[in-house]
Amino acid sequence: MGVEERKIEAETAHTMAEHGAARAAFTEMKQSTKEDWEIIGGEYRAFARELPDRVLDHLRLLDGDFGGFPVDRLEHSLQTATRAHRDGRSEPYVVMALLHDIGDTLGSYNHPEVAASILKPFISEELHWICQNHGAFQGYYYFHYLGMDQNARDAFKDHKHYEACREFCEKYDQSAFDPEYKSESLEFFEPMVRRVMARPLASAYNTAMEDA
Ligand SMILES: [Fe+2]
Ligand SMILES: [Fe+2]
Repeated sequence: MGVEERKIEAETAHTMAEHGAARAAFTEMKQSTKEDWEIIGGEYRAFARELPDRVLDHLRLLDGDFGGFPVDRLEHSLQTATRAHRDGRSEPYVVMALLHDIGDTLGSYNHPEVAASILKPFISEELHWICQNHGAFQGYYYFHYLGMDQNARDAFKDHKHYEACREFCEKYDQSAFDPEYKSESLEFFEPMVRRVMARPLASAYNTAMEDA
């Protein structure tokens, strides 16, 4: 494709972008242009703003998924978040509690990392650490029944967030399997999810979200 044709195609794509039906024109990224990235950037910002909807939809996938536990994974998530909320925890903390097991569906071998990655742009380093490492700390309550090391969490005993993670698991996570507990609904937490995920905290992510 000649330079002139390429230019016309890019201009056409740019016009289409204003009508929401545009596509970038490149077949290899190294051929891409500023106009291409204006199209993609516009789509990306709209897509990113819908992240809370996708997260809430994904939480709903945990509904009815018991895996042998006394409550299903959605109820466990709601109960963990409700306990944290009723204990006066901050909104980011409650949202972390709500999402901490969202990775169970796709991260069957490393679910804490899935939730931690989704939440990373929106929460403090401490809350991220709690989420990412809660698996080893939860293990204190059952690893020994599975032939594993009950004290696996001791690997982190000198870490500055050890106590915060131990407390999360003790107060809210390991205790959130009670079928009789009256948890708040997912709708109750929805505005919190939207507020916490409205804008990344770190500037590196924010730059990509700034309107062109
Ligand atoms: Fe978990
Ligand atoms: Fe959990």
